[in-house]
Amino acid sequence: MLSIVEQDLGTPNRDSATLVTLSIDGQEITVPAGTSVMRAAALLEVKIPKLCATEQLEAFGSCRLCLVQIEGMKGLPASCTTPVAQGMKVTTQNKQLADIRRGVMELYISDHPLDCLTCPANGHCELQDMAGVVGLREVRYGYEGANHLKGEKDTSNPYFTFDASKCIVCSRCVRACDEQQGTFALTIQGRGFDSTVAASQNVPFMDSECVSCGACVQACPTATLSENSLIQKGQAEHSVITTCAYCGVGCSFRAEMQGEEVVRMVPNKDGHANHGHSCVKGRFAIGYATHSDRIVKPMIRSKITDPWREVSWQEAISYAAGELKRIQAKYGRDSIGGITSSRCTNEETYVVQKLVRAGFGNNNVDTCARVCHSPTGYGLKQTMGESAGTQNFDSVMKADVIVVIGANPTDGHPVFASQMKRRLRQGAKLIIADPRRIDLVRSPHIEADFHLKLKPGTNVALINSMAHVIVTEGLVKEDFVRERCEAPSFEKWRKFIALPSNSPEAMELVTGVPAASVRAAARLYATGGNGAIYYGLGVTEHSQGSTMVMGIANLAMATGNLGREGVGVNPLRGQNNVQGSCDMGSFPHEFPGYRHVSDDSVRRQFEGAWGVPLLNEPGLRIPNMFEAALDGEFKGLYIEGEDIAQSDPNTQHVTAALTSMECIIVQDLFLNESAKFAHVFLPGCSFLEKDGTFTNAERRISRVRKVMEPKNGYGDWEITQLLSNAMGYPMNYAHPSEIMDEIARLTPTFTGVSFARIDELGSIQWPCNDAHPEGTPTMHVGEFVRGKGRFLVTEYVPTHEKVNARYPLILTTGRILSQYNVGAQTRRTENNQWHDEDRLEIHPHDAEERGIAEGDWVGIESRAGDTVLRARVTERVQPGVVYTTFHFPESGANVITTDNSDWATNCPEYKVTAVQATRVGQPSEWQKRFREFSHTQESLLKDADVFVAK
Ligand code: SF4
Ligand code: SF4
Ligand code: SF4
Ligand code: FES
Repeated sequence: MLSIVEQDLGTPNRDSATLVTLSIDGQEITVPAGTSVMRAAALLEVKIPKLCATEQLEAFGSCRLCLVQIEGMKGLPASCTTPVAQGMKVTTQNKQLADIRRGVMELYISDHPLDCLTCPANGHCELQDMAGVVGLREVRYGYEGANHLKGEKDTSNPYFTFDASKCIVCSRCVRACDEQQGTFALTIQGRGFDSTVAASQNVPFMDSECVSCGACVQACPTATLSENSLIQKGQAEHSVITTCAYCGVGCSFRAEMQGEEVVRMVPNKDGHANHGHSCVKGRFAIGYATHSDRIVKPMIRSKITDPWREVSWQEAISYAAGELKRIQAKYGRDSIGGITSSRCTNEETYVVQKLVRAGFGNNNVDTCARVCHSPTGYGLKQTMGESAGTQNFDSVMKADVIVVIGANPTDGHPVFASQMKRRLRQGAKLIIADPRRIDLVRSPHIEADFHLKLKPGTNVALINSMAHVIVTEGLVKEDFVRERCEAPSFEKWRKFIALPSNSPEAMELVTGVPAASVRAAARLYATGGNGAIYYGLGVTEHSQGSTMVMGIANLAMATGNLGREGVGVNPLRGQNNVQGSCDMGSFPHEFPGYRHVSDDSVRRQFEGAWGVPLLNEPGLRIPNMFEAALDGEFKGLYIEGEDIAQSDPNTQHVTAALTSMECIIVQDLFLNESAKFAHVFLPGCSFLEKDGTFTNAERRISRVRKVMEPKNGYGDWEITQLLSNAMGYPMNYAHPSEIMDEIARLTPTFTGVSFARIDELGSIQWPCNDAHPEGTPTMHVGEFVRGKGRFLVTEYVPTHEKVNARYPLILTTGRILSQYNVGAQTRRTENNQWHDEDRLEIHPHDAEERGIAEGDWVGIESRAGDTVLRARVTERVQPGVVYTTFHFPESGANVITTDNSDWATNCPEYKVTAVQATRVGQPSEWQKRFREFSHTQESLLKDADVFVAK
């Protein structure tokens, strides 16, 4: 348990090989050159009063409270803006300084409401603290003069309030928005006495560019900007460090608590992935954990047309196990399976796959990574030998050329996007390959050098044409390739890629990207210094997803952009634990640590540890499970924390498969879309109620710590353990740390990982073993994990999903900042105020041609199905392309996506669906059926007393 007071050294850390020794109040200290006098003093525990300085932001020097005396220097410099110098002698306390500081505070206090006893910041207000520190006893100017005490409150944001009457115009909020977040939503308007903080052009926060990251709230030294939860609940009395359960950035937070209630989430300054920053989801969107829809009691029913019946845990588990055993006895061993979730912890995922392999006796386990990053695992393993990204996030600060392909970091990975934007503002070049004009293409102080606006489905053609330029213009890093890569594979690839058919000119017709831009972008990547590639689902969710991942790896190897900081191939993982769920053996063909089930020595190791014989044949992938279900061969499914009925493509196919099964067990927080087809509902717990670990996109394993007891009575790992024991396969873990100990024993890349070690180091990037006892920030240093890097021929094969007269537009999908994945969590928070429905983005030309105006209902029809969404007419999409998000089940975005998938991994081709769009007046037939079915399912729950107590 931690106190809620964090130390603030006043100004940021400086890295410098040059060390400087100085004396402060007679004590000597040696610090890196560039360190401020204020920080050096703080390191000596000499506290210099301050108001406008904080270690998260560059010093500004406006409050004049931190003045010091420096021998030989004229006047009284501000310690926050004065860098240390060799031999400097600093005095921080004397009468003159005390008088000036008191005078400064008198001015501040004469224009402050002084309602301390009822102020939300009471007890942790820096203004209040400083009044105490400088010994303020009277305010000679009185309180009657001109002041700002009638400043108005802005309560437009659902999560925080701006109370202008308390503002001391220190500009910490403005700098936080600029430097940390990179949104530039705030300004100080007016001059002198009239200076005030304004959002955008002096509009309410909600009408400004503000993205509600909360950095300004955190930076504010007074109660001017305060979280509404803090205003309502009062201050916390303890805090617990844990990890965000939303995206793959994996931000570390201090959950500030009053007993078992969260007062607020404060990003952890020591968090290795986020360094004290956050986005609107992690900081504010946690209300779902106690939303009235949350189910906390187990339920069963024989048929999905029956009402749910609340039962004891014992009855639910024994019913579920009985059904699974009955099905296996009737239909065979392989008739059941399990699905793990990238939202669950490593430990929870590990026990689910263990239950399937050892308890069910088959390998029918798969994970939602199947539908997002499975091509990453395959493509990177094939080329470099490890199924993971190569860098840590901080590496971007050493990149000279940043390439973003098929990713939208400001929406999908916002905290990393802020870091990337910082590097871009420092001058790094930016190449974006995306069919849509994402925010990064042009945002305050950032402009992409190239936006390669390719047609959806032509990634491989584009990457090949970039590689063609590098090979044919002599830009290959020959020494790197010679030393680090397999010569025959390189020669074969070089020959292939040099073919005229791969030239930008030949590919221009396919990709729609002007050849000259491709040539210039390729030259920039190859010659501009450190080149770092970041990619997302716009790369993987294609019929050639794996080919594209290999194409990216080829490009990085050919240019020597691997094996050091500032470079690399970096998949931006969607969900919080996608990396971890894959690492933990969630795929049907692999044990934990990506080792094939047919590898006898690996299998023997697991058989020895788990005490049962294991199958040497891969089991069913999720799409194969659906096929087998429709063929009458697959009848029982255990789904932990995943909503396949909403997230998987071709919804009607999925729901037909679910309907054909005899026992579906859903372990989740809510009656999600899949649970509407379930026979057993096992209530799960939120990340706030669990102990375990998540592994983020950097391979960073971080602790998730329980801040409150599970509202459902059991941790998710315990529920799986109960089910396993009831199935007859014993599991006897007493704590998730024991599960991690077993993972470490059985997985070479995790040998050195334990809860104790993570607690000691803060977080660990795997591989962590004898060779890398503190983890591995950068992969493939010196040599590739597989030894030599392997180039693979990546021939462009157009997708089968073609536009024609009937389906002339290409639909592509993506996500938005305020919502997350299927929206089950964020839809149950105030985040809906930013995005309360999925809309169809359509270019003005396409809209005009169809008589579609902003806000009109548009019918979207594909070969798989049809749905209706409202139109957003925008030039963000190019003509011929339409775009939507998929956060709301009733949108039916996946009713229109097809069964097409990646050739190697079956990852669905979400990003390319040929559609027609027409103006309509009513919901689609599917939507009408969906509403009716949902209504019926909700009514079958209405008599059950199973919801969380408020
Ligand atoms: S919440 Fe974030 S984006 Fe909004 S004004 Fe504050 S720092 Fe800027
Ligand atoms: S709102 Fe807070 S951080 Fe911003 S200028 Fe006012 S007191 Fe400073
Ligand atoms: S960036 Fe991702 S991990 Fe960080 S707070 Fe936002 S959702 Fe959570
Ligand atoms: S803290 Fe140094 S001038 Fe404000």
